Amino acid sequence: MPQLAGFPRFSLDATSTPIQPLEKLSRYLGGANIFVKRDDVHWIGGGGNKLRKLEFLIGQACKERADVVITVGGKQSNHARLTAAAAARAGLKCELVLSRMVDRDDEDYTRNGNVLIDRLFGATIHDLAEGVDPVAFAQDRINELETNGSRVFFCPLGGSSPIGCLGYVNGYYEIAQQEKEAGFRFKQILMANGSGGMQAGLLAGAAISDGDFTRIRGFTVLSDESEARANTLAKLRETALLLAADSDFPESAVQIRADQLGSGYGLPTEQAIEAIALVASKEAILLDPVYSGKAFAGLIEDIRTGELARGSNVLFILSGGVTSLSAYRRQLVR
Ligand SMILES: Cc1ncc(COP(=O)(O)O)c(C=O)c1O
Repeated sequence: MPQLAGFPRFSLDATSTPIQPLEKLSRYLGGANIFVKRDDVHWIGGGGNKLRKLEFLIGQACKERADVVITVGGKQSNHARLTAAAAARAGLKCELVLSRMVDRDDEDYTRNGNVLIDRLFGATIHDLAEGVDPVAFAQDRINELETNGSRVFFCPLGGSSPIGCLGYVNGYYEIAQQEKEAGFRFKQILMANGSGGMQAGLLAGAAISDGDFTRIRGFTVLSDESEARANTLAKLRETALLLAADSDFPESAVQIRADQLGSGYGLPTEQAIEAIALVASKEAILLDPVYSGKAFAGLIEDIRTGELARGSNVLFILSGGVTSLSAYRRQLVR
């Protein structure tokens, strides 16, 4: 994509992921034809949507000659895991500031899943106690490291800075190319919305190409509908500004629903657990309990209610996160 050519990039083999039809599941549900964009399948770090953002973020870190990357997230953050992986790949030190975004302190949650893998990638983990502000903690740590001569690059929550969002501007371009090759367009493009960068990046990609916003839809898994919309809209505007494109978007450019959020972030719903079991048993594809499981439950609901009509083609962004499954052992298998 020519608009992205000037931005520094560190390759993590995150792009050119396939789009696959889920024929068996589509037949079983008897509604729309479901396709998945396999942004869960990568060579590096266990895979997932954050790798696309990290190609640009680590590219920028290298340009700034950073030697340490710091980011923040919940204890089972996929973004933290992939930041640790990307930093290892680029030869940078990595520090993860992990906070208690979910009220759990059992062994599965605090030691297994992504936390275990963060350690294998060699990251230093700052395991924050309840009530400690992660961004303020990270800022203090940055000051300390810089005083000692390090150059630090800070990645915000979810890697969703405008530079990170460029990863999904490119993702939209890739989908549009795949549509051209397939000879049809998807009626809807569905995904989980956490820190909002994936959806904002796709929307910015649409803005600078075909302008077809309304088909890009997110299910918030982190905050309520109005907060998720405002956050995603802000990121969309900032990303468009970075691309020197028109950034005057109406609120209606961002389609967000909160009906799959359940009791909150990191707390799987019955519908998500059902979706994970269904997709695994019909297609041998794994969803995760925090993001893709909830969003896919929304897709299933829309097929059951007829919102996604028989014969229409719908694309689900399969964004990864299966490395957290073992942290949810007790919720998933009873
Ligand atoms: C597996 C997975 N899917 C989806 C998302 C949501 O992406 P975003 O934070 O860009 O909204 C995340 C974010 O952490 C994730 O880890």
